[in-house]
Amino acid sequence: MTHLSPITVFFFILSFFICNSAITQSAIHGVNAIHHPILAYDGMVATQHHEASKVGIEILKKGGNAIDAAVAVGFSLAVVLPRAGNLGGGGFMLVHLAEEEKTIALNYREIAPFKSKQDMYLDKNGEVDVDLFNQSYHSVGVPGSVAGLIGALEDYGTLTLEEVIAPAIRLAKEGFVITHDLEKILIKYENRLRKCPNASKIFYPSPNTFYKMGDLLIQKDLAWSLEQISREGKEAFYKGAIAKKLVADMKNNGGLINKKDLKKYQVTKVKPILGTYRDYEIQSMPPPSSGGVHLIQILNILEDYDLKNMGHNTAECIHHMVEAMRLAYADRSKHLGDPAFVEVPAQGIISKEYAKLLRNKINADVANKSEDILAGEPKDFESEETTHFSVADNKGNVVSNTYTLNFSFGSGYVAKGTGILLNNEMGDFAAKPGAIDAYGLVGGKANAVEAGKRPLSSMTPTIVLKDGKPYLITGSPGGSRIITTVLQTILNTIDHGMNVSDASHAIRIHHQWYPDVLFHEAALNADTKNLLKNKGHNLEVRAAMGSTQSIMIVDGIFLGASDPRRPDAKCIGF
Ligand code: DON
Repeated sequence: MTHLSPITVFFFILSFFICNSAITQSAIHGVNAIHHPILAYDGMVATQHHEASKVGIEILKKGGNAIDAAVAVGFSLAVVLPRAGNLGGGGFMLVHLAEEEKTIALNYREIAPFKSKQDMYLDKNGEVDVDLFNQSYHSVGVPGSVAGLIGALEDYGTLTLEEVIAPAIRLAKEGFVITHDLEKILIKYENRLRKCPNASKIFYPSPNTFYKMGDLLIQKDLAWSLEQISREGKEAFYKGAIAKKLVADMKNNGGLINKKDLKKYQVTKVKPILGTYRDYEIQSMPPPSSGGVHLIQILNILEDYDLKNMGHNTAECIHHMVEAMRLAYADRSKHLGDPAFVEVPAQGIISKEYAKLLRNKINADVANKSEDILAGEPKDFESEETTHFSVADNKGNVVSNTYTLNFSFGSGYVAKGTGILLNNEMGDFAAKPGAIDAYGLVGGKANAVEAGKRPLSSMTPTIVLKDGKPYLITGSPGGSRIITTVLQTILNTIDHGMNVSDASHAIRIHHQWYPDVLFHEAALNADTKNLLKNKGHNLEVRAAMGSTQSIMIVDGIFLGASDPRRPDAKCIGF
């Protein structure tokens, strides 16, 4: 064996540090950074509410791992972010375990009650009764959040349920300070919440008045529910004291969920859906979310184009992105549903060969018309208000979690005596084939209502890996726009060399096949818009899209960013 001289070893070590710090520098500064990420060395939590982020950090500092912190965040958001954080909804969680070098996907999506029927949202003329579908006691799916969070803790956490739920109990019992954003949102959704006396009592001081920024919001019933869960575990929610109140509330209001629905609720543990994009691995949520499948499909289509040279948000770059989105959402309408009930050709849709075929449909100069695009046949290639949070610990474990009540405050109903807002997730089913949902998405037979089935989702909790290690942990709310928001965060970092903060700030666009409209945020450059119109795109301004909560890990350093689109969000590191 040859011996290295001390001087060679010195230069070798020096070059290692110079090289590594150069990588970190470019990850911080991106091509030409405008917004700096939060930087930390020991752990990081990015959520849509600063109180929940503080809770996550408190748990990490106490010695908990990323899963402990994520579960504590999940329970705390149910208190401080009532429009989306929840006990009465459902979601998806990716857990990456550093030691085992493995990622697990937890499916705790809501389930259609056993009394559900395919045509139960149609009126006597066969038309969709939109209120019944989206805003009634029949809109409520069997909630999965309590089972999902506790399941993650039991399998991968290190602290007790009592320890991770304590901060949420404290926030519910002692109250938390109402922000400007919460004050406004409670005014905006007054009709939805005041229609239910149980909700009205919690979110409004009196029948004609509103809470103001700076007031405390105390939620006694919710504190009671959290205490039951802390003591009895998920049994309290699915069989015990909370279950009794939920079932009574359903009975009194003509809802469908009964004792058996709650008792039978199960979280499923699956493998994440896997793809690659350039030198990176993508891990995301498989069906019944459409998120991971179409994220990977769009990335596959785009991989062959030199987006970097086209330039960020140039007409040429957006045109190619939009055409890829159009093709993917056409496939979504036909092929995606709950794989426990229908055959979903997920592997075909995410295959590179299928992407090659789809790419042939893209003309570099002229926009396709959605009416000319039908869903493909990928089988041959077999081989406003949700919330996302990301957590990373110093052992290399990470959690990427998106959960929801569907609409802001879900159905707007609170089950009496529980303080728990109930979801309206049944609205994510296709009420009849070809019908559009609240997000304008066209639904097919694969996503028809069936007892015991999970409604199709767009939630896309994602982990991007580089050299086998988590590199970017991200996800977003935004209904149908979740997939394209996550896509753009990935493209902004990988193709356009942005740091995680610039990638989160950058102007977003969206296309979902139908309506045949290229939605964009207001600040998109006017020259770009004109060039896109010349290519045949129909442009429309949309309010801010998405709310990403992202962590990037480079050289063991955490770089984080909470989307500036939601004012209460905060990424904290230590
Ligand atoms: O699962 C889904 O795809 C929808 N229920 C998500 C709803 C949503 O993101 C609303 N938020 N802005």
